[in-house]
Amino acid sequence: MSNLIHIVYISISHRDLSEKELSDFLLDIRAKNKKLDITGLLLYNEGSFIQVIEGEKEAIQTLFKLVKNDKRHTNIIELLTEPIAERSFPDWSMGFKVINSKDLEKIPGFSGLMNEELDSKALPGIAKQVVKLLNSFRQYT
Ligand SMILES: Cc1cc2nc3c(=O)[nH]c(=O)nc-3n(C[C@H](O)[C@H](O)[C@H](O)COP(=O)(O)O)c2cc1C
Repeated sequence: MSNLIHIVYISISHRDLSEKELSDFLLDIRAKNKKLDITGLLLYNEGSFIQVIEGEKEAIQTLFKLVKNDKRHTNIIELLTEPIAERSFPDWSMGFKVINSKDLEKIPGFSGLMNEELDSKALPGIAKQVVKLLNSFRQYT
């Protein structure tokens, strides 16, 4: 029986990352994810991260603890943790896209989140929109 979950979170990079830094970082996390059968997608926009990680519950919970303690980013907001019937990004050990601000502006409340104006009542709505945004990149597989 599979025990798949996904976690969606947003965070802020502790500083703007160059293309080289991002690609080195991705090489590293993809190699780790392959070993642990973790898949997902990471979006980056001018210092903001949005990530979905998916896989076996234990592997994902362990990874998310590491990610939350990672000094390379802050303001980590967990938007969603839930069981899933199947993976959305089965072929991506970690897909990656630099997105533009317009994509984020389409999500009501998102900029507030990033500016620490956390309104917990707005979170489920924002989570839904973020999942929609992540899924809109599935076609690029
Ligand atoms: C935005 C962000 C996303 C990350 N995503 C992953 C990931 O998908 N998989 C992974 O293994 N590490 C990821 N990391 C790195 C982890 O936080 C952590 O550094 C790494 O898992 C530690 O691995 P190690 O204990 O083998 O050195 C991410 C870090 C950041 C800042």
